[in-house]
Amino acid sequence: MTGELSPIDKAKFVAAKRAADMVEDGMRVGLGTGSTAAWLVRHLGDRVRDEGLRIKGVPTSARTAHLAKQVGITVIPLDEAGTLNMTIDGADEFDGDLNLIKGGGGALLREKIVAAASEEVVIIADAAKEVGTLGAFPLPIEVVPFGWTTTQILVEELLVSADVMGRRITLRMNAGKPFVTDEGNYILDLHLSRIGNARQLAMALNQMPGVVENGLFVDLCDKVIIGYSDGRVETRDINEGTVSEDRIDFAETENLFSDI
Ligand code: A5P
Repeated sequence: MTGELSPIDKAKFVAAKRAADMVEDGMRVGLGTGSTAAWLVRHLGDRVRDEGLRIKGVPTSARTAHLAKQVGITVIPLDEAGTLNMTIDGADEFDGDLNLIKGGGGALLREKIVAAASEEVVIIADAAKEVGTLGAFPLPIEVVPFGWTTTQILVEELLVSADVMGRRITLRMNAGKPFVTDEGNYILDLHLSRIGNARQLAMALNQMPGVVENGLFVDLCDKVIIGYSDGRVETRDINEGTVSEDRIDFAETENLFSDI
């Protein structure tokens, strides 16, 4: 199966596998959104099926909920879980302090609520997601549809005095219509090229009426697991200040996901 994967998918696959192995019986686990998180959900489903792993998953999007149920993971709402032992999610960018840009898949609001409810947040990514400074990936912000053009004007004004390099803003579209999030909101993508002060920008954006949440995740991530297409995985722990490396053997996983 893994022999058919592209190099980037192999990298995502092994990062997700390492993270799935960290999940313990009885845990309440936040399940991220995106292509890397989808591998995680499949790996966890595999452990549920083969090892009888008992977990409760809190999905961060309708599509993750759908996949989780499909692979046999018990899904509960965040309100039932209250708090979570661990959340595992992907990211669009991460920097050396493990601050992130998220929301490329449009699920940033639920993702941030779920991350904030978690004792430990683990990000899984391929190496291309690492940056020196955040901002090359357009920063998504979730806005209320009512008056969204006014909100865009206010954000444009805010960006004039912000420590950023670009200021173009686009409304995210889907099949000719505004993309609508699971919470019924729109997404504005901020093409900033470089974000000099992520913490300051995140706080300023969230003070703006009409902005529900922004895709900057500052001080939320505890560990990043970086996957490589040759099976290597690197785990960086920001709290312990440690970096460890090991390798996932694709041969051991040959029979996985034969149905996908
Ligand atoms: C979803 O809204 C995002 O935050 C994703 O976690 C992010 O876009 C990473 O997605 P991939 O794993 O598909 O790159």
